[in-house]
Amino acid sequence: MRYITVALAKGRLANQTMDLLEKSGITCEEIRDKDTRKLIFTNRELGLRFFLSKTSDVPTYVEYGAADLGVVGSDTIHEENRRVLEVLDLGLGKCNMCVAGPGTARELLSTNRIRRVATKYPRIAKEYFYEKKHQTVEIIKLNGSVELAPIVGLSEVIVDIVETGSTLRANGLEVLETIEPLSARVIVNEASMKLERERILSLIGALRKSLEE
Ligand code: PRP
Repeated sequence: MRYITVALAKGRLANQTMDLLEKSGITCEEIRDKDTRKLIFTNRELGLRFFLSKTSDVPTYVEYGAADLGVVGSDTIHEENRRVLEVLDLGLGKCNMCVAGPGTARELLSTNRIRRVATKYPRIAKEYFYEKKHQTVEIIKLNGSVELAPIVGLSEVIVDIVETGSTLRANGLEVLETIEPLSARVIVNEASMKLERERILSLIGALRKSLEE
């Protein structure tokens, strides 16, 4: 039997996904070992393989068929823009993609006077500012701690994920506009969905059933 391979985004989401699978009797003990440095884990009886990758790489593995399925946030799916099928909203890790900044930037935003936007999500920021708001801004790509940008004068606003809002509050920033709600999704490789339809649908069914319990 050919292995079905599942790519999981390293961290909390991988654990939450395994919790859901375990509820349906799909287990993988090795992956639960916090001290392991292994990246790939096998359940021989079920013909399943799981691997942990950097979040932004999950859609890449799935597009190329190196993984048949993946579980990753919709922010990453949108930003990476890979050819994959999005088949299930797990409703985990709910948060929002937002434009945020100091309160004083609110007026700049509404009068089209923002010059620079800092973000880890340049595609999402471009789509929002160029295509939706028809505003010409410079998008500056950062790799983390994006909240720093308006504080030190790199940009007037940021585009970033807001979950509890505590990072913004702690830095004197606020949500100015909401771009889109986000949550974890299951994605599938297009060819795998044809070749291994039954086994993939049964995995998705197991996840869906656990969500409903
Ligand atoms: C994310 C995001 C915000 C923060 C939002 O950062 O980029 O900074 O979480 O969460 P909150 O609204 O609950 O405060 P992450 O922790 O992923 O690290 P980063 O700063 O490297 O992006």
